[in-house]
Amino acid sequence: MLAGVFFACAESPKTTLSSPAGNISVDFVLQDGKPFYSINKNGKTVINPSRLGFILNGNDFLNGGFQIIGTETAEKDETWQQPWGEELDVRNHYKELTVKLQEKNGKKRRFDIVFRAFDDGAGFRYEFPEQDHLKTFEIMDELTEFVLAGDDSIWTQRLFDRDYEQLYRKSKISEITDTVSTPVTVETADGKYIAIHEAALIDYAAMNLSPVTTLSCEKNSFSPQKTKANGNVFKATLTAWSSGIKVYGNTPFKTPWRIVILADNLNELAHSRLMLNLNEPNKIADIQWIQPMKYIGIWWGMHMEKMTWTEGPIHGATTKNMMRYIDFAAKNNMDGVLVEGWNVGWDGYMVGDGTKFKFSMPYPDFDMEKISQYASEKGVSIISHNETAGATSNYEHQLDSAFAFAQKQGIHAIKTGYVSPLLDGKERHSSQYGVRHYRKVVETAAKYRIAIDTHEPIMPTGWQRTWPNLMTQEGVRGQEWDAWSTDGGNPPEHTTILPFTRGLAGPIDFTPGTFNFDNPVVPGTRVQTTIAKQLALYVVIYSPLQMASDLIENYGNRPEFEFIRLVPVDWQKSIVLDGKIGDFVVTARQDKHSQDWYIGAITDENVRDIKIDLSFLDKDKKYTAKIFKDGANADWKTNPYPVEIVEEEVDNHTILDLHLAASGGAAIWVKAKEQVR
Ligand code: NOJ
Repeated sequence: MLAGVFFACAESPKTTLSSPAGNISVDFVLQDGKPFYSINKNGKTVINPSRLGFILNGNDFLNGGFQIIGTETAEKDETWQQPWGEELDVRNHYKELTVKLQEKNGKKRRFDIVFRAFDDGAGFRYEFPEQDHLKTFEIMDELTEFVLAGDDSIWTQRLFDRDYEQLYRKSKISEITDTVSTPVTVETADGKYIAIHEAALIDYAAMNLSPVTTLSCEKNSFSPQKTKANGNVFKATLTAWSSGIKVYGNTPFKTPWRIVILADNLNELAHSRLMLNLNEPNKIADIQWIQPMKYIGIWWGMHMEKMTWTEGPIHGATTKNMMRYIDFAAKNNMDGVLVEGWNVGWDGYMVGDGTKFKFSMPYPDFDMEKISQYASEKGVSIISHNETAGATSNYEHQLDSAFAFAQKQGIHAIKTGYVSPLLDGKERHSSQYGVRHYRKVVETAAKYRIAIDTHEPIMPTGWQRTWPNLMTQEGVRGQEWDAWSTDGGNPPEHTTILPFTRGLAGPIDFTPGTFNFDNPVVPGTRVQTTIAKQLALYVVIYSPLQMASDLIENYGNRPEFEFIRLVPVDWQKSIVLDGKIGDFVVTARQDKHSQDWYIGAITDENVRDIKIDLSFLDKDKKYTAKIFKDGANADWKTNPYPVEIVEEEVDNHTILDLHLAASGGAAIWVKAKEQVR
């Protein structure tokens, strides 16, 4: 049906770009002067011909009447090392095609489309060269489409751009009726995966996807209407400014990359580094101060309403509390302590008027100098919190002084927050305004040697390659939802979906580590896992800043806390060993600083027996596996607490048999022995 529409139009010859191994190819064609691309894998079309172009202010269509005035090709093969990450080495191997387009008549405006074909997918972006008849412009709409070849299953999150904290839903592509945020992940009928997202979102608006069809090359107008025949079409929908304009630009100008990851299995999907490769290399010369950390904090105490952010009788961020947390961190191999509610400006439960926040002014019961001095003596880092309540101008005015203040206190990491429906009461988080703000914060922080953990962020797009001080972000329905959510919280399947959806965009500050399942805030609700699953999340969900989120008294002397104490947060290698999105995941990661491996296995609401094949271990080594698994009668609803800890000798011939309770899991430390066979 679609092809019929496509081929009914006059067509210029197809230009094809193949990936280095030749398995992926991108075709470009002009149909009646309008640009279209398609993507194929192993000779099969995955993205059918999909249109490209823009509408500029004044109903000015920049998507037709073009001719190709030149093409250029390039190729790159480099391997770079991540300062921190799921693995050390990343190969960036692609072939590139630039198609230079110019309007045949009128103003003869120009843009280029740069395609990169990798062996695990493709990316493309628009580049506008400097030109006389296109200097300053306003994008009203980006017309990029993704015409998926089949009506497969898809995991999407409804757009709620403030914080991307919706649950992922599974549906047929054609069943989607609302705008969704990226990444979206398609699982094809033959068990393969397609993910659509963007890379290097800089000075532009975030791309969301709307289900529409406008495939006729005769029409210049954009009329959203779904038909049964071609209901597998997404169109880019950029988040607008309050003015209605999507993007303000000046030539020369480059858009972010639109990316399509194509994977044969979950391991390939989770380990595509295409998004990172499409960002610029690291700009920070000395990165020694950027350190992955496990951290604790009084944070859960506030969410459990046992403490307050604002000063008062149960103020959380007191000198006394902090000393207690620093002592615990020093004794328990925790690198950092997060402190929220330490600065003047909190004016109610959580946040109110953000313009009152002072980012260099501690509350009187919080002796910053004493605390930082004590932390430094104990070898513990303080992670301070800058909640802005969305008052971005107030924050930007104080950025330098706030970061200089933190740096003076020896602080190397700040958690930022933007709890508010709009920024400065006006602009959406994922608008070009928001994108500019978040980038400014990360770049300014780098000057002061501060790493950033953004809450209520824009969806990550790989900035950490360029600015590795952007270490982790929320932009996820994190574990805190189980503290106060009245809408069912995070169901057991939630964390089996995240690594293959939100996780494709980058590290997630999910904040696992609950050991106590009472919830006084919304009685009857709770974190919906067993303790063993909480442990496993430290391996399954990747973040270089990983919180042990419970109150320290809840860890007490529980033997299973040992796993959180020893699990690393920086990795040499990572492998998804097994899984099915929405059902279960088994992930193994090798410590960056030893030969040890760590395995996390989690299941949804269903009890599951799994086998873990350890053939990935070094064949010349013997190991001891310390297994933290669901104990007798464990069940997330009725009995989340029992954890059984067992040890066994293993090698690369071992297959472990494990029983996972309902919403349970297993966490395994596979310790390499000295002797070699
Ligand atoms: C929401 C954040 O996600 C949470 O981590 C933080 O504690 C509160 N806002 C207060 O800033």
